[in-house]
Formats: sequence, C-alpha cells, structure tokens
Amino acid sequence: MKRVLITGGAGYIGSHVAREFSRAGYLPVIFDDLSKGHREATGAFPLVVGDVRDTELLVRAMEDYSVEGVVHLAASSLVAESMQDPVPYFHNNVVGSLSVIEAVVRRRVRYIVFSSTAAVYGLPDEIPISEDAPIRPINPYGESKAMVERLLASCSRNAFFYCSLRYFNVAGAHPDGDLGEDHDPETHLIPIVLAAAAGRREAVEVYGGDYDTPDGTAVRDYIHVCDVARAHLLAYEYIKAGRNLVANLGNQRGYSVREVVEAARRVTGREIPVRLSPRREGDPPVLVADSALARRELGWRPVMSDLETIIETAWRWHLARPEGYRRAPGP
Ligand SMILES: NC(=O)c1ccc[n+]([C@@H]2O[C@H](COP(=O)([O-])OP(=O)(O)OC[C@H]3O[C@@H](n4cnc5c(N)ncnc54)[C@H](O)[C@@H]3O)[C@@H](O)[C@H]2O)c1
Repeated sequence: MKRVLITGGAGYIGSHVAREFSRAGYLPVIFDDLSKGHREATGAFPLVVGDVRDTELLVRAMEDYSVEGVVHLAASSLVAESMQDPVPYFHNNVVGSLSVIEAVVRRRVRYIVFSSTAAVYGLPDEIPISEDAPIRPINPYGESKAMVERLLASCSRNAFFYCSLRYFNVAGAHPDGDLGEDHDPETHLIPIVLAAAAGRREAVEVYGGDYDTPDGTAVRDYIHVCDVARAHLLAYEYIKAGRNLVANLGNQRGYSVREVVEAARRVTGREIPVRLSPRREGDPPVLVADSALARRELGWRPVMSDLETIIETAWRWHLARPEGYRRAPGP
C-alpha cells in the first residue's frame, strides 16, 4: 500500500484529505502537532505528533513509513491574527514549509501537494480570478503562502514535483457525519451562521452592508470540503505523471453573506439574528474563482458545492457535535 504523509491531517481539511486518500487505497500517515487539530479526527490512521519545523522528526517519519509523497496542509491560517502578530505566521508557514521541503529533498520523496489560498491575490482587478492574476497579498497570511509557492517552484527543480492548490472558502462537513469543522476561535461564516441558528451565538456579525454587490454584502466562493479533498487526490495523481501545477479550487459561483444566511434559515428552519457592522479593512467586496484550469488539467468537478448541500452537511455535523470533537482530558 502506498503511503502519503499528510501534515495538518488532524485539522479540518486535512482529515477529509486523509479519508479521501484512504478510500483510494493509500495509507495516510498524519503528521500534526495538534495545536489546532484533533486526535479524534485522525481515526485509526497512524499519527505522528510533532511540529513540521522539526525537520529531523519529519525525516524519521518519512523513513519509518516509507512515504511516497506529502500533502502539506499544516499552517496557521487566521488572517486577522496574522495582521496583529505576523512573525509567528511567517515562522510556522514559511519556516515550517521549508522544513517540509528539506525533509522531502533529503529523503528523495518525489511529490508535494500544498495548501495555498485565494489570499495570495489580495484585492483582485478582475472577477472571476484566474491563476495568472497578479500575486499581491495584503496580509501576512497570504504573503506567507505566496512565499511558499515560490519556494516550491525554486526548490522543485530536479528534486520533486508539486501542486499548489489555491482554495477559496472551504465549507461543509463529511456526509459520513464524523468529520467536520471545529476551529477555536471560529472565523468562518457558515459555522458562525449555524452556531447562531442553534442559539449558541447571539447573532451573526455582518461586516459591511454597503458594498457594490447586489444586496450590499460581500460575495465569496464556497467550495465543499469533500470536493477540495478529491482535488488533492487528483492533483497527487497528476504530479505523479511528472508535472507541476498551480491551480485555483473554487466553485466559480459567488454567494453574498445575506444569501448564505437565507439559505441557512431554509435548511435549519431556525431564526438567525444578524447584526450589521462596518466593513473590515482589507475585505474585498467579491472573491470568485475561475477554476477552469483545475477542471481541465485534473478532470475535477465539484459535486457537493451547491450552497444547500454545503449547509446541510455542516448543519448535520453541528447537530451531532455541538461541542465539536472530543477534547483530550485536561491535567
Ligand atoms: N479553511 C479554509 O477555507 C482555507 C482556505 C484557504 C487555505 N486554507 C489552508 O488549508 C490548510 C488547512 O486549513 P484548515 O482550515 O483545515 O485549518 P486547521 O487549523 O483545521 O488545520 C491545520 C492543521 O495543521 C496543524 N498544524 C499547524 N501548525 C503546525 C505545525 N507547525 N506542525 C504540525 N502541525 C501543525 C494544526 O494542528 C491543524 O490540525 C491551511 O494550510 C490553510 O491555510 C484553508
């Protein structure tokens, strides 16, 4: 059985990626420091608890499990936090990724799939955003991911093949019901809306009602986490044929904050109080992907990314696990 190391595999997206690889016949080996992730989300897969900046531990894990490739998702990913305190972001995301690259080169591992982000584009000139749009991140988080993309391009020559996937807004939960989003703090719109629907949060804070969009609220491209996970598997198979790729992962369809709240009211049948606040600095009015490249090169088609399915799966997860994953017992 081919083995793939999944850094950040105890996290939201990584746990879905691990399951997708397992279903395709790979053994996912999870490497995660559990700073944000959850042991329970790794199920029965082998788990190495460690920091990706510990290159020796990475090399040992790659050796012990004879891994063929790496899917590298481990990172810090809160935009606002990265603006308040940028150094730890560059440290975790850039130094951490360089450590992964170093271990890959030392172990002669041949493949890396990397979690990048739409935040590398900053404030785009054109919608939908295609991969050849200028890379102009406007926060340290996006900057750190853009730097890693460049590191991969420079270090890959004669060493490994790579794919950087620039995700838009990942949302939803696994239809099996046992994997879902559990972040602390939660900053993503859909889990926040559902927490308000469940009465676990007073109201949904809507930042900006005066954008130049059909209903005045910001528009984003939501993509189901299972569609994202499937794209990683396809990307991995693609680079195994000896090619590199940098591609967007989005649904090519935008929904406004108000549309998300309305859809959540329909799906849950609950009241969802909303509180309008001023715009946040640096929030673009519209972010929608052009994902023709991933569709063409990977043969990828999002199949769960209509808004109702995203919200239904997330709501099922929320009802089953209002507190999220089981926490390890405290001291
Ligand atoms: N969620 C989104 O909408 C979105 C959008 C674009 C990009 N991304 C990227 O996707 C990746 C996964 O995001 P997520 O939402 O699943 O986040 P997450 O926080 O749920 O998962 C990240 C995982 O990485 C682990 N980790 C962090 N630093 C580590 C380190 N130094 N060593 C080992 N493990 C470490 C955490 O414990 C966690 O399990 C991230 O790289 C993120 O930047 C996410």
